[in-house]
Amino acid sequence: MKRCEYLVAREGKQIVGAISLFFEDKTCKIDDLAIKQEYQGKGIGTKLTERAEGIAKRRGCNKMWCFSSKDLNACGFYLKLGYNLEKIMKKHFERRDILYFGKILKST
Ligand SMILES: CC(C)(COP(=O)(O)OP(=O)(O)OC[C@H]1O[C@@H](n2cnc3c(N)ncnc32)[C@H](O)[C@@H]1OP(=O)(O)O)[C@@H](O)C(=O)NCCC(=O)NCCS
Repeated sequence: MKRCEYLVAREGKQIVGAISLFFEDKTCKIDDLAIKQEYQGKGIGTKLTERAEGIAKRRGCNKMWCFSSKDLNACGFYLKLGYNLEKIMKKHFERRDILYFGKILKST
C-alpha cells in the first residue's frame, strides 16, 4: 500500500489547493496543506481535509496529525475542524514555535 497520497482541488484546469498525506503506524500525517491565496476562506481546505480523513479511516488509521508553524496562522482552521493543539514546541525550527495538532478518528 502507498505510504503517501496527494489530493488536489481544481477550478477548471487550475489547481487551487493541495494536501499531502503520509501514512504510518495507523496514523495519517498531513504533510502539507495549502490553498491558493485568492481561494482561501471558501471551504476548500475543509473539503480537502475531510476527504483526507475519509481516506485515512478507510485505511484503518485512528489518528490524524500535523505540525504547523505558529506564524502560518492555521491554528484557528485546525481547531475548527476538531483538531486539538496537543503540543507547542518552543523555538523549535528556525526560532519559530511549532504546533502539533492531533485528531482521533472515530470509526463510523
Ligand atoms: C489554512 C488553510 C489551509 C485553510 O484553508 P481554507 O480553504 O482557507 O479554509 P476554509 O475556507 O475551509 O475555512 C474553514 C474554517 O476555518 C477558518 N479558518 C481558515 N483559516 C483560518 C485561519 N488562518 N485562522 C482562523 N480561522 C481560519 C475559516 O474562517 C472557516 O471558518 P467558518 O466556516 O466559520 O468560516 C489556508 O488558508 C492556507 O492554505 N493557508 C496558508 C498555508 C497554511 O497555513 N497551511 C497550513 C499549513 S499546516
